[in-house]
Amino acid sequence: MDHVLGFRCSLCGQEYSLDEIEYVCPQHGDMGNVDVVYDFKKVGKRLTKRKLTGNHDYSIWRYRALLPIEPDSPPLPLQIGWTPLYRSGRLNGMLKMPNLYIKDDGRNPTASFKDRASSVAVVKARELGRRVITTASTGNAGAALAGMAASIGQPAVIFAPETAPEAKVAQLLMFGAQVLLVKGNYDQAFDLCLQASREFGWYCRNTGYNPFTAEGKKTAALEICEQLNWQAPDRIFISVGDGNIISGIHKGLKDLYALGMIDKVPKLMGVQAVGSAACANAWRRHTEKITPVAAQTIADSISVDLPRDGVRAVRAVTQTEGAFLTVSDDDILDAMRVLAREAAVFSEPAGATAYAGLVKALRRKLIDRNETIVVLITGNGLKDVKSAIKAAGQALRVEPTLEAVKQLRR
Ligand SMILES: Cc1ncc(COP(=O)(O)O)c(C=O)c1O
Ligand SMILES: [Zn+2]
Repeated sequence: MDHVLGFRCSLCGQEYSLDEIEYVCPQHGDMGNVDVVYDFKKVGKRLTKRKLTGNHDYSIWRYRALLPIEPDSPPLPLQIGWTPLYRSGRLNGMLKMPNLYIKDDGRNPTASFKDRASSVAVVKARELGRRVITTASTGNAGAALAGMAASIGQPAVIFAPETAPEAKVAQLLMFGAQVLLVKGNYDQAFDLCLQASREFGWYCRNTGYNPFTAEGKKTAALEICEQLNWQAPDRIFISVGDGNIISGIHKGLKDLYALGMIDKVPKLMGVQAVGSAACANAWRRHTEKITPVAAQTIADSISVDLPRDGVRAVRAVTQTEGAFLTVSDDDILDAMRVLAREAAVFSEPAGATAYAGLVKALRRKLIDRNETIVVLITGNGLKDVKSAIKAAGQALRVEPTLEAVKQLRR
């Protein structure tokens, strides 16, 4: 892995070689998230626009020269990433935004964005010879880890809050992971998973804590830029829970910029639920100090008391001169309906949160309708059927006669 120089602590800047630390900078307990540092001279020789044009591997592995994996590490036998970037005529017409794109990451193997991070973590665990891999998860990261691990027969242990939507728990079970439903919230599951991984020597994929999750997530930024012919968009709207997706996207954009493959870094627009807004609060107060909240929102995937990648999330927004927005649960349900009806993209609440943020930004006149804007939809609607029915309403019931149908249509 001669293209990776090591790690750099996001808080104190201390640099480490790859074998000096495993997860975080030891000077800040579990919160010292580290960035992976690349040798851009080497990467630049291996990853070029021309080479990508001739590369028919339409998955995250097409960017392996910019991923922290060994050059000969076999990819997982699943199609991860290279999700569609739609320009929906009807939605764009309705919003009078000709250059709006929807990236549907619900189209990944386990139906969420999290396959990007979990696949890189599984490949790393295999490279490191670690037999059991574990994570805490609101549901999607765990389902992704369980699925990615199942693809190579690796044992996985998943800690999720007992309130996780049933469909996500069903996925965990179907992929054969050991599922531990924690009688508590995501934050408690996170801490328990850390303790268990230390006790039993399991490889820990916990979001943000594991330096490679952001690296997997950054592939969405690489795809967006490539799908737009290397014209970076003006803005990207991203829902924020732990803050690791937005920090991963930021990292991807910074890497591309450092390589000279894009000529600007888009403004990143973080969107949180009003009831789970620790990062947005910090950004509004112009501080990187993240104060925990008592999270409550219908968008279970972004219901987080203490974001585990909060500092880098706030930085992603401030450094790109974007903004944080907060949206209500009703805004999120509206967004789910509109996305499904105007663009035929069926999103779970946390995915539609990004779109709800776009609507709010339009209302507040924070954006120009001609800008090139990408909204990242991070999870499929079937992940949380109860919320979908809440958004869409109940179906009509009818006797099996034509007369009954006529009555209904009157
Ligand atoms: C569907 C979905 N959207 C958004 C997020 C937020 O990602 P992050 O916690 O990295 O901010 C998650 C995380 O679980 C998710 O599953
Ligand atoms: Zn540090």
